[in-house]
Amino acid sequence: MNMGCRSRSSKIRISSWYKTGYEINTAAAPAYSITADSVALTKYLPSTTNIVKIMNHINSHSFLTFDAHRVSSPCFVIDEVKIEQNLQILQNIEKKSGAKVLIALKAFSMKSMAPLICKYLTGCCASGVYEAKFAFDHFQGKQLGSNHREIHTYSPAFKDDDLEQLLLISDHIVFNSCRQWLRFKDRALQAQHARPALQFGLRINPMLSTGATELYDPCAKGSRLGITLDEFTLNFPSPDLLDGISGLHFHTLCEQGYDDLELTLTAFEQQFASYLPQLQWLNLGGGHLITAPDYDRGTLVKTLKRLQHQYHLQAYIEPGEAIAINSGVLVAEVLDIVSNHTNIAIIDASATCHMPDTLEMPYRANVFTATANTPVEIAATCGDKPFSYRLGGQTCLAGDVMGDYSFKHPLAIGQRLMFDDMSHYTMVKTTTFNGMPLPSIAVWNSVTDNLEVVKQFHYHDFFSRLG
Ligand SMILES: Cc1ncc(COP(=O)(O)O)c(C=O)c1O
Repeated sequence: MNMGCRSRSSKIRISSWYKTGYEINTAAAPAYSITADSVALTKYLPSTTNIVKIMNHINSHSFLTFDAHRVSSPCFVIDEVKIEQNLQILQNIEKKSGAKVLIALKAFSMKSMAPLICKYLTGCCASGVYEAKFAFDHFQGKQLGSNHREIHTYSPAFKDDDLEQLLLISDHIVFNSCRQWLRFKDRALQAQHARPALQFGLRINPMLSTGATELYDPCAKGSRLGITLDEFTLNFPSPDLLDGISGLHFHTLCEQGYDDLELTLTAFEQQFASYLPQLQWLNLGGGHLITAPDYDRGTLVKTLKRLQHQYHLQAYIEPGEAIAINSGVLVAEVLDIVSNHTNIAIIDASATCHMPDTLEMPYRANVFTATANTPVEIAATCGDKPFSYRLGGQTCLAGDVMGDYSFKHPLAIGQRLMFDDMSHYTMVKTTTFNGMPLPSIAVWNSVTDNLEVVKQFHYHDFFSRLG
């Protein structure tokens, strides 16, 4: 589980709208010739009303024209065009506000996307040594030229050995507690002496819950994430005691809009503003769904500018989901259909191994079918269309179930299904429980239609990690 995130609240919202399924006919137009979501869909759809309906029901729009038989199953397919569109939005925030945007690798860590991400963002935020090393190797490697990409590392607690490595490769290291900072302070400042660009920060906890789900709420009572004001003032009764600390960090949101950031900032400034004038940066964490169409980006830009101006510091944000949202699907295949009170389709993808958030959150992913020259069908709520099925995986877990869906026609053995919006917090969380093979990973370009399988997993990947 990543630290403090993954509510998929937007998906729940979409699922609750999900009363009826819609179909579009791809046979009427050449497949895969899309350039932008709305343009693409007008080529395939009979009416504008249907376009709106479809776009309200499926997040990864470009995949409505993707033939799921083009890859082996199961397979994550990522549309690099959508990723680039998200990155452009985030870069725009950077340019307009002067704040720096980092990708939170915990959400999306595709090596093959690193060059694209480097074109747009300032750097990466890492959750520990592995992600920091990954950032060091792939986001600021020599092959990317001389552009320095920043690496910011935060962990709820650092181990001595890990910190030694992080001191060599991170730009910012953020400590989660006063105790950890005071314990490692001498060593940290020594390393900073050798590498002056290295800076240290503290994660604070403004204790203002704005999210919907406690599992993903770093501000919940009893949270271990970040230093509360009481703890902070106990350890640093006056700002000058913050010697060695260059910035503060907070992360309190998950899939949230600007209004919740505003509330959080008010709480944060009420509690911690007196410490800011002597600091060089403020990191506002992740959870900002900036690339969602209704996010108030204009006000975000104003606020970031205001913070930087008022406190003379550099602002950072570190979104993860916003980079990869609506950019990918998980393709799966129907293996068998059994019956027990209801029809149950067993597929070669697993909720617990390949889409764990669907069980953890839980939420119900949108499902659709698309193959060349056949109508695209968006599965509806169970009972709304003539043929209802529970979709389940191959593992022993009785609850390895994606949900109940209905279709216009009966599902067939070998039929392909696509699970919507599976790029972020999905590929990074897969497991091989029950010896389940991991899905392959393919990169698709929805403009050129180029498709490349960038990773395939084998038996070796299963046994080699279990000792
Ligand atoms: C410290 C921190 N930063 C950034 C993020 C990224 O959040 P999101 O992917 O929701 O933008 C997370 C998510 O858990 C986090 O814990």
